Amino acid sequence: MTAALAGRRLLVSAGPTFEDIDPVRFIGNRSSGKMGFAVADAAARRGAEVLLVAGPVHLATPAGVQRVDVRSAEQMRAAVLAALPVDAYIGAAAVADWRPRAIAPNKMKKTAGVDTLALELVRTPDILAEVAAHAARPALVVGFAAETEDVERYARGKLAAKQLDLIAANRVGVAGAGFESDDNLLTVFGRDGLARELGPAPKIQLADALLDLIAERLS
Ligand code: C5P
Repeated sequence: MTAALAGRRLLVSAGPTFEDIDPVRFIGNRSSGKMGFAVADAAARRGAEVLLVAGPVHLATPAGVQRVDVRSAEQMRAAVLAALPVDAYIGAAAVADWRPRAIAPNKMKKTAGVDTLALELVRTPDILAEVAAHAARPALVVGFAAETEDVERYARGKLAAKQLDLIAANRVGVAGAGFESDDNLLTVFGRDGLARELGPAPKIQLADALLDLIAERLS
């Protein structure tokens, strides 16, 4: 029996962000968007009103989901904040932490004899932390943490630092899980002390299990 989400408004972010360097180059990451799209799909199947803010990905919009496409972290922030208020925010996007300070208006050229290039990067806004501290804070704010080591320590640190209700941590850099995979293994930590292993399983099943934890806490 899956817990219903009828009448609830859920906001999901998914995919990477691309931070432009010049008109042809950008800084990106390996997020496929599959986990966030699976959460949006599963939430819509449970009757929630679902808004999906998607970075640049090649995925079809799940049935019944309202989608806004963005490219950069700054655009994602604007789209997410514009969608508030919601009952729950699930930040599954792999938002770039850094962007070039300026976007070159023309393609940057190679110069003979110049062998190095320094790009100055500045921090992007932390969308998740901003939503969690917002005057219109959703009842539930859920983050993801992709870690290569010390998963629990880093995930719990983010849960506290960003004032989240739940954080779903995954090991990246292991076979059969993580960014480009259809399967994943999540450990979910809660502000309420929860520590729950989900998977290994296809991302669509993990999305459902995560929504059970979300629906329980919303009801
Ligand atoms: O701190 P870290 O980037 O590992 O945290 C990951 C979580 O924070 C994810 O839920 C991601 O969507 C969110 N995040 C964000 N804005 C950023 C960086 C991360 O919303 N600039």
